[in-house]
Amino acid sequence: MKIEDLQSIFQEFQEKINQISDLKLLEELKTFYLGRKGKIAELIKQIPLLSPEERPVFGKEINVLKQKLQDLFTRKKEELEEKVSEGAKLDPTLPGIRFNLGSIHPITTVIEEICQIFEHIGFTVVEGPEIETDYYNFQALNIPPGHPARDDFATFYLPCDNYLLRSQTSTVQIRIMEKVKPPLRVIAPGKVFRPDNLDASHSFMFHQIEGLVVDEETNFSHLKGTLSYFVRKFFGPETKMRFRPHFFPFTEPSAEVDISCIICGGKGCSVCGRKGWLEILGSGLVHPNVLKEVGLDPGIYQGYAFGMGIERIAMLKYGIDDIRVFFNNDIRFLEQFK
Ligand code: DAH
Repeated sequence: MKIEDLQSIFQEFQEKINQISDLKLLEELKTFYLGRKGKIAELIKQIPLLSPEERPVFGKEINVLKQKLQDLFTRKKEELEEKVSEGAKLDPTLPGIRFNLGSIHPITTVIEEICQIFEHIGFTVVEGPEIETDYYNFQALNIPPGHPARDDFATFYLPCDNYLLRSQTSTVQIRIMEKVKPPLRVIAPGKVFRPDNLDASHSFMFHQIEGLVVDEETNFSHLKGTLSYFVRKFFGPETKMRFRPHFFPFTEPSAEVDISCIICGGKGCSVCGRKGWLEILGSGLVHPNVLKEVGLDPGIYQGYAFGMGIERIAMLKYGIDDIRVFFNNDIRFLEQFK
């Protein structure tokens, strides 16, 4: 045995370990050199065959060699293990994760579109509470207790004090007039609640948009101009509009507004019940009692108001014949609005 032999074993080990990129092969290399029957063990076995002077020298050198191989092995092992765990964290060959993107609910889209049309002609969007009192939902709107019109706005009463779930967004008319002095041009979208049984055209919760203008010398032609602008913008320039006399306690005179059927163009079809017209909203000039209630002098100020059901308008716009699809959260329906 020569000292050079030990050196060449070291070199040989170094070359081999440099080529290894796999933990299993590294273990095999270790056994081959450092194992019980490995190269180092063989060298140790040969020590007794050496002369007494050589034995301690070689013994020491073999130990140094063994330690060096051991160190190389440990370092390489750490290196490989680190690579393995990095690989587990990120495998760039795997397909990416697809995130399901949500979409704007069609009711929200319709509310935003309507608000934008009105904002364009000077209206401001405002909101009011969904939990209301009898005063804002009825009394201030010229519907005192016992008034037969209360039946038209079937209402959920809350078990505490005088509270209820508002059955119309007309409540916001009162709230805004209490706070802001005329001139006033507002649009108020929001949820309303009525104890109706759920069917294709009724829901216990739906959305309305309320409009209110109060100014000096406001008349019916202002209402007509505003609504016909809205109808043409929202339903298309060929859409016709007509007023039909009606009754609402908070407006006088009052009218319902019909548009020419957007499906058949007015010829008559199943959607418009062969009439050629579709009712889309209620409107009128603000009743003097309502103005007085909020401290405005009807001799100076007049106003007009209107209110429409969003679901009905969205159903017409998208050709939907069942209101329930808006609330079922069925992803197959909602996905169409992406
Ligand atoms: N609040 C009425 C309803 O829920 C709709 C309405 C009619 C609103 C006439 C108005 C109006 O502002 O002037 O049926």
